[in-house]
Amino acid sequence: MKKRNYGFGIIGCGMISRFHAKAIAEMRGGHLECVFDTISESAMRFGDEVACTAYSDLKKFLNHPGLDIVTIATPSGSHMKPVIAAANAGKHIICEKPLEIKLERIDKMIAACRKNKVMLAGVFQRRFYEASIKAKDAIDKGRLGKMQMADSYVKWYRTQDYYDSGAWRGTWEMDGGGALMNQSIHGVDLLLHLAGDVKSVCAYAGTKNHKRIKVEDIAVAILKFKNGAMGVMEGSTNCFSNDGHPLEVQLCGSDGSIFIKDDRISAWDFRKKFKADEQIMKDLGAKAGAVAVGAADPTAIDYRPHKLNFEAAVKAIRAGKNPAIDGKEARKSVELILAIYKSAASGGKEVKLPLKKSPAIKKF
Ligand SMILES: NC(=O)c1ccc[n+]([C@@H]2O[C@H](COP(=O)([O-])OP(=O)(O)OC[C@H]3O[C@@H](n4cnc5c(N)ncnc54)[C@H](O)[C@@H]3O)[C@@H](O)[C@H]2O)c1
Repeated sequence: MKKRNYGFGIIGCGMISRFHAKAIAEMRGGHLECVFDTISESAMRFGDEVACTAYSDLKKFLNHPGLDIVTIATPSGSHMKPVIAAANAGKHIICEKPLEIKLERIDKMIAACRKNKVMLAGVFQRRFYEASIKAKDAIDKGRLGKMQMADSYVKWYRTQDYYDSGAWRGTWEMDGGGALMNQSIHGVDLLLHLAGDVKSVCAYAGTKNHKRIKVEDIAVAILKFKNGAMGVMEGSTNCFSNDGHPLEVQLCGSDGSIFIKDDRISAWDFRKKFKADEQIMKDLGAKAGAVAVGAADPTAIDYRPHKLNFEAAVKAIRAGKNPAIDGKEARKSVELILAIYKSAASGGKEVKLPLKKSPAIKKF
């Protein structure tokens, strides 16, 4: 039987929407039907670029014949409204990171999708890197033994022009935070995916290198994981490098170590060796080719991991299952980042998870 080809629509026609359109154009099981932006010129320009119907009226967009799935590419603090409207219109949803900037808003999104029996999938494209998939598989097979240390390092760079390029960037109201909520969230999600849930955090954060913004451009946290491991998390947009430093996740256990640098593996070291290990390092070792990741330039990313993220969501719809990155899963990184903010705002006091409510942070 021929598999259904789902009609996609993109909400928000800015920077990342271009990558969504490329991913949809190449994916299996989906095609682009229409785009929507509250700014009519932005919608029309993008509609012309990708040759599909453009709307600046949300109701008309959601009534577009053949629209099944919407991707959300609006500023982070503007995800909730379109998600709830799309859910009420019976559309499945794939939403950019962070899912939203407050837990209460995320919970409303999850509830609306549940009520309308539509899928809510998050975008965390790094989970679809081959290095991440191999690491997860080795961890699930118990190859690390008892996890001891789990760290994430996101030493990236963003210019002042980047923060000045959109009124929402670097604001508490719409970005929901800075280096952590916008950029390092990729490392936070991967860390939670690979090392499991965090029990408590102690953190410091500050704004050290950018003007005008009140959110953090640097943060460090000490983490205690539920499985007994300890770790650190560093995130910044102040770390100059012409090409950008890789995002690193390091996991060490009683029986092995895995270090990931973007989509490469720099340590793959186990007490008990498997036959496939050599090939894994041949394919994914530091010297093998790498995808573009946007460490120093947010527009220099590869759309293919988004394509895999979207295909996994379509597969879940077909199977009538929850996607692997569902609302609950995508919520976790926001909760951890908010806990880090709460600790940093208190001068480094320990904060336990789960959080009862989102803290209201104005500055560090
Ligand atoms: N996964 C990734 O690697 C990645 C990379 C960059 C951005 N993002 C995420 O994508 C989202 C958008 O980021 P961006 O850099 O593309 O922003 P952007 O400012 O370039 O684009 C946002 C667009 O949304 C439109 N918009 C605002 N409110 C809207 C609404 N209510 N309905 C419809 N359109 C609306 C704006 O007019 C603008 O065209 C953010 O949540 C960001 O965190 C993810």
